[in-house]
Amino acid sequence: MKLWGGRFEKATDHMVDDFHSSISFDKRLYAEDISGSIAHATMLGETGILTGEEAREIVEGLKGIRKDIAQGKVQFDTEAEDIHMNIEKLLIERIGENGKRLHTGRSRNDQVALDGHMFVMNAVSQTRDLLQDLMRTVLSTARQHLDTVMPGYTHLQKAQPVTLAHHMMAWFQMLKRDDQRLREVRDHADSMPLGSGALAGTTYPLNRQRVAELLGFSRITENSMDGVSDRDFMLDYIYAASVSMMHLSRFCEELVLWSSHEFRFVEMDDGFATGSSIMPQKKNPDVAELIRGKTGRVYGDLIGLLTTMKGIPLAYDKDMQEDKEALFDAHDTWTKCLLVFDGMLKTLSFRKEVMEKGAAGGFTNATDAADYLVRKGMPFRQAHEVVGRMVLDAIRQDKSLNEFSLAQMREYSELFDADVFDALSILACVSDRRVPGGPAPQAVLASIESGQKYLDECNS
Ligand code: ARG
Repeated sequence: MKLWGGRFEKATDHMVDDFHSSISFDKRLYAEDISGSIAHATMLGETGILTGEEAREIVEGLKGIRKDIAQGKVQFDTEAEDIHMNIEKLLIERIGENGKRLHTGRSRNDQVALDGHMFVMNAVSQTRDLLQDLMRTVLSTARQHLDTVMPGYTHLQKAQPVTLAHHMMAWFQMLKRDDQRLREVRDHADSMPLGSGALAGTTYPLNRQRVAELLGFSRITENSMDGVSDRDFMLDYIYAASVSMMHLSRFCEELVLWSSHEFRFVEMDDGFATGSSIMPQKKNPDVAELIRGKTGRVYGDLIGLLTTMKGIPLAYDKDMQEDKEALFDAHDTWTKCLLVFDGMLKTLSFRKEVMEKGAAGGFTNATDAADYLVRKGMPFRQAHEVVGRMVLDAIRQDKSLNEFSLAQMREYSELFDADVFDALSILACVSDRRVPGGPAPQAVLASIESGQKYLDECNS
């Protein structure tokens, strides 16, 4: 017998039972669902809508069910459709008639919304923990490589030298924005919808504020129709996941490139690489590739739910049951990727010499040669032209800018002096870029300290 069976004369078709049942995936919300029910029943008892004794018995029953589910002792029933009705059914089986009072002043529509809000708030705190672990790893890698010079690229062509620490701190900024975005996501989710009923609130004098307080929400939703039909907070989480996966994917793409024989900047630890079934020499960066690949499925979760939501009228519609798998998948994929990426980065070894050698080639000091002429009084645009001609000749003669003699340099400009060779050293190119946010070791150290401060404040 269905909990809603009163007005039906015929049983649900088996095909439909199977089709619309969500218990196979929403059983994951059992803890949120039971906490919500306990808070609801407690409030019903406090306000006199139920007697104190009735409320207590319901709360005890729910706690017992929670324990049994946690211990794997409960077999869910597909016919009972979803986690909400499964738990209510179990409650009635356990405590009898009184269990039928739990759903007073409540609908599954506000109940499922509440579970979603709670899930997202928990997901945010789990994800932020993992993000911040990864941020700490990035920070400590940066600290070790303040002086490790490497080429910086634009268009994947060598551009100007930077340091590995500077590159790491660019990653750090992206992760920090991901973390800050999650703070916003939590704020949007932190709004308690119970009391919205099916869509039009309820006639019972519920104390919604009290339920919010019992569950750790700081406010209640302000419109009952919006309370049951809003899934923005889930989309916010999946969007945050999508942006962060895009970041992870970019890091992974760099690691794939850097571990190739053409770059040879890094070597993956054996524990984070895989071999080939045919080519004995292969060591493949599968982990990085898979994270890059999984970005696609998280985008799919976002586009899927956005599309589900776009055409449905207020208030609740069953379409919205599709929200959960997208949300769970985005959460599981993102958190798993953060964890594995952290492990991969922690064990990664950097080939400093190869990076340093790479930084010196490809005329990465050409801008510095132009800047040198500017310091001697030449307008920048003209200096750009002069150095451009020097680069062209150097390419033809297969040498670098510092391999010109002073006399040869003076043929391009009288302003060149003996101090040019120091100015063109790769080390100077990096350490002269002391502008805040630049790659000079002291500028990067300042950014590391500010990153450390951010993490310390998050944990205080
Ligand atoms: N399983 C449903 C969902 O996930 C719960 C709410 C159902 N409400 C309803 N009136 N059918 O959305």
